[in-house]
Amino acid sequence: MLIQAEHLQKTYHMGAVKVEALKDASFQIAAGEFVAIIGPSGSGKSTLMHILGCLDRPTAGRYLLDGHDMSRASDNQLAEIRNKKIGFVFQQFNLLPKATILQNVCLPLIYAGLRGRRKQQQLARQALEMVGLGERLHHRPNEISGGQKQRVAIARALINNPALLLADEPTGNLDTKTGQEIMKTFHRLNQEGHTIILVTHDPEIAAQARRIIQIRDGLIQRDEVIA
Ligand SMILES: Nc1ncnc2c1ncn2[C@@H]1O[C@H](COP(=O)(O)OP(=O)(O)O)[C@@H](O)[C@H]1O
Ligand SMILES: [Mg+2]
Repeated sequence: MLIQAEHLQKTYHMGAVKVEALKDASFQIAAGEFVAIIGPSGSGKSTLMHILGCLDRPTAGRYLLDGHDMSRASDNQLAEIRNKKIGFVFQQFNLLPKATILQNVCLPLIYAGLRGRRKQQQLARQALEMVGLGERLHHRPNEISGGQKQRVAIARALINNPALLLADEPTGNLDTKTGQEIMKTFHRLNQEGHTIILVTHDPEIAAQARRIIQIRDGLIQRDEVIA
């Protein structure tokens, strides 16, 4: 099993105030699945994604990724797993404005310590071709459309060939048609074997996944495979 979440809890402390963002979340996700996580604003979706993406640890409960217990890993261990196994896509694209498309996609390779600019650029080109962006490589983010920016972000997330692709509201800043194109890209990547977990509050987007996990007030309310 790629993901085993066992009674995950996350409590944030803001001064004297406790926020129970996740109260009890348990589920398993196998390699190759395409899962949508839905729920109202503030229900704990991003908190859950941060834990699944090894950006944070649960307050209680266990999170196993590929059989390894991440809930008790050190910050360094989490960072290492993140670099090797996880690709992230965010609503805001998070591209470096002054770097070219190609340089943006190369960044994780540089962080991972892969040397050789030619090798880096070759891998970046391949990742960009996987998301249908084989051109405009030397343009900067402000010279391309929102949909193209998100595809650059997906290419960047894919470049280390991660086991898991996590996307938090990836279509939230895009118009409906462009959002659909991004969903097609995720579908194609899923067919090629990538495991995808996507957060959305758009029911039409969620309906395109193979399974929907609905959370509300930090609890799993529904977990269904869709026909
Ligand atoms: N870093 C944080 N510190 C304190 N409270 C937080 C933090 N992140 C999220 N929360 C709170 O936890 C709850 C769940 O937030 P979040 O996971 O971002 O929900 P969603 O992504 O579903 O909108 C909210 O009440 C939010 O205000
Ligand atoms: Mg969120």
